[in-house]
Amino acid sequence: MKSLLNKSLLDIDQLNPNDIKNIIDEATSLSEKRNPMTKKYLGGKSVLTLFFENSTRTRTSFELAAKKLGSDVINFSLESSSVKKGESLLNTIKTLEAMKFDLLIVRHADSGAPYFISKNINIPVINAGDGLHAHPTQTLLDIYTIQKKLGTLKNKKISIIGDVLHSRVARSNILGFAKLGATVYINSPRTLSLWKNKLFESNNSKVIFVDNIYNALDDADVIMPLRIQLERQKQGNIPSLREYSKYWGINSQKLKIAKKDVLIMHPGPVNEGIEITTELVNSDKSLINEQVKNGLYIRMAIIKSILSEICK
Ligand code: CP
Repeated sequence: MKSLLNKSLLDIDQLNPNDIKNIIDEATSLSEKRNPMTKKYLGGKSVLTLFFENSTRTRTSFELAAKKLGSDVINFSLESSSVKKGESLLNTIKTLEAMKFDLLIVRHADSGAPYFISKNINIPVINAGDGLHAHPTQTLLDIYTIQKKLGTLKNKKISIIGDVLHSRVARSNILGFAKLGATVYINSPRTLSLWKNKLFESNNSKVIFVDNIYNALDDADVIMPLRIQLERQKQGNIPSLREYSKYWGINSQKLKIAKKDVLIMHPGPVNEGIEITTELVNSDKSLINEQVKNGLYIRMAIIKSILSEICK
């Protein structure tokens, strides 16, 4: 797959359906290979994970993915870095560029930070989540997870529920799922919505915003509740967590209206008992651990596509 070679991956909108298929094919192939075979791809390369915001799944799986491909991996430690002494983002990345890393994997609380970084250095950048904006590798692993279960996203009803306003996952997933032919239903409190977002309107008519949660859940193939992102919210977006949970929390009772074999996904981390019940997290409908597992192979595929000319 040559379309990502030496390029940055900043959002899902830069990939066409064929690019997405190639990444998923590569992830499938890598998932079937034993570790010593994959180690040959990135010998001598060095990857830097640059996380200015907390992460469990994304940072760990990127580190493991890069190591499984044979690369050296350095994890930039924000707390012990010179950022804490006032060094600017630009000077920080220029310093790191001088060390000749081959790839930067960046998470930042500010939307657009990975774009700024990629414009100012000559190293490919993977956006590992920027503010409210985008999380393309989460979208690719979610597409991979759905395709493994349902074969395709085409004509499937995928419903994203909850705090859409603060969710970079929702924004990238809406674009990615619709691109592959799914009908994406969105339901959220009005104060946490992306109503009338021009991007979704112009890009694809298969993105449907509904006021009533039951219109989103009715006959759904996949339901994805979102974490309520209290750390990004101003006060007063919701009256209380109890009320949010009552109306937007996904439980067995609400699921009765969905398809019998509906799949439950969640990008994590989960606030159990708020956006989804513990019972559903642990049920056989839940793909939450599958998403994490598949994330490793998707991230291996992306890193390999950017850094290696070795084809499968
Ligand atoms: N889904 C996700 O980005 O999780 P982390 O914040 O743990 O990386």
